[in-house]
Amino acid sequence: MLALTSIGTTTYRPHEELNSTMAATITRRRRGRAAAALTALTLAVTTGIALGATAAQAASTLGAAAEAQGRYFGAAVAASRLSDPVYTGILDREFSSVTAENEMKWDATEPSQGQFSYTRGDQILDHAVANGMDVRGHALLWHSQEPAWAQTMEGPALRQAMLNHVTQVATHYRGKVYAWDVVNEAFSDWPEGVRRDSNLQRTGNDWIEAAFRAARAADPGAKLCYNDYGTDGIGAKSNAVYAMVKDFKSRGVPIDCVGFQSHLTTLPSDYQANLQRFADLGVDVQITELDVAAGPQQAAIFGSVTKACLAVARCTGITVWGIRDSDSWRTGEDPLLFDDAGQPKAAYTAVLDALNGGSTPPPTIPGVDPSAWYVLLNRQSGKALDVYNRSTADKADVVQWTRNDGTQQQWRFEPSGGGYQLKSRLSGKVLDVLDWSTANGGDVVQFEDRDGENQQWTVTANGGYLTLVNRYSGKALEVQGGSTADGADVVQYDSWGGANQQWQLVKVG
Ligand code: XIL
Repeated sequence: MLALTSIGTTTYRPHEELNSTMAATITRRRRGRAAAALTALTLAVTTGIALGATAAQAASTLGAAAEAQGRYFGAAVAASRLSDPVYTGILDREFSSVTAENEMKWDATEPSQGQFSYTRGDQILDHAVANGMDVRGHALLWHSQEPAWAQTMEGPALRQAMLNHVTQVATHYRGKVYAWDVVNEAFSDWPEGVRRDSNLQRTGNDWIEAAFRAARAADPGAKLCYNDYGTDGIGAKSNAVYAMVKDFKSRGVPIDCVGFQSHLTTLPSDYQANLQRFADLGVDVQITELDVAAGPQQAAIFGSVTKACLAVARCTGITVWGIRDSDSWRTGEDPLLFDDAGQPKAAYTAVLDALNGGSTPPPTIPGVDPSAWYVLLNRQSGKALDVYNRSTADKADVVQWTRNDGTQQQWRFEPSGGGYQLKSRLSGKVLDVLDWSTANGGDVVQFEDRDGENQQWTVTANGGYLTLVNRYSGKALEVQGGSTADGADVVQYDSWGGANQQWQLVKVG
């Protein structure tokens, strides 16, 4: 029996006791989520917002929804962004797993031969542990991002250096990562069906199995994965990986999982069938680096990938390769779930809906009671969202005005179509983007409740303030020009996180 290792209060058991490992992992995630709930409670109390009487039915975050399906939902994280509160706000709220985007790669962890550097990788690990998230190790060996010293090596010296690297890094992170990409991208694109030429490959065709054996010896508790791109559908490249995994399983080479990077533009029609055939070999499968180029199908592809994973019993989780579009390595392709301002995109809703097994009721806004009446105070001006001149007519303008708690300043958050409508207490009408405008500066008025998408708002809470993004236009509710004057117009504009786009709630009825 191998010794147990401990991190914090969580004990990890070696590979032979996988069920215990899984139980420990699940307990730890729950603890993380409970801590998050406590933070929301503290926030609500300190800002004077009453807690809602209704608890969330379906899960309202990616991590919680995935957990309810027995899966994790992860993101690639860059250590350099951990000081950005918008970034960590989304990370800590939505995700249950983390992959270091670059910080655990060979060039980062062994910049000079035999000199190991774990500072940045540990930073990501520590953040994950502190927030109840799991960590996927990425990647022990890869032809790319090899340190300069290794790039010039060949043959037995490189083989030895490479195995030492695997041993040292897997030992450092022993018991702390639940899976390792032991080998990344070892198969060729042209021609397909064969190994990629590299100095690693030239040390001998058995380099991959040697790496897996070294990793198992160093960290018997981690799931050991082979990870690649362009293997997302059935084809010559994925067939070659399939043959290798089958061979490894038949010869007892320690492999536990296969990662499908899924850097997508279109979705292969046999995506799910491909995952399933690998799972049928007796390995777990994971979506490891999901991102999808922006386009009319983006949300649908994200949704389909999620459904495919849920349909394969051994698909244990999904990781997206970054958080906001502006964090992505695919510059200009806007391939992620959150926009540059950190607002959830349609792709996010598609994933969450799929994880919830259909459509998702609107997320509970932390601290918001859907049966209460609120005054919404603009963060920039301190003034209240107000129906001008106490009008009860359709298309009456909505402006800001000094708070007086009149019924023309009172609003209720009513669930509608996966978002919320804001109903005026005075008129019974709802906040509406006039004429379905998608333009910056599009006017916001009140209009009869028609459950229109231009009347629905995605509400995100951040640091005690809410941002409201229109479901139809994707733009945020703001006081035009950041004005502080009475009567200043309330309009929609690109969400950029400005104080004039943030609203504080005061419960008045
Ligand atoms: C990418 C990172 O996102 C970039 O920051 C870095 O410059 C290059 O590597 N396949 C992988 C990932 O396995 O490690 C790559 O990450 C993207 C492709």
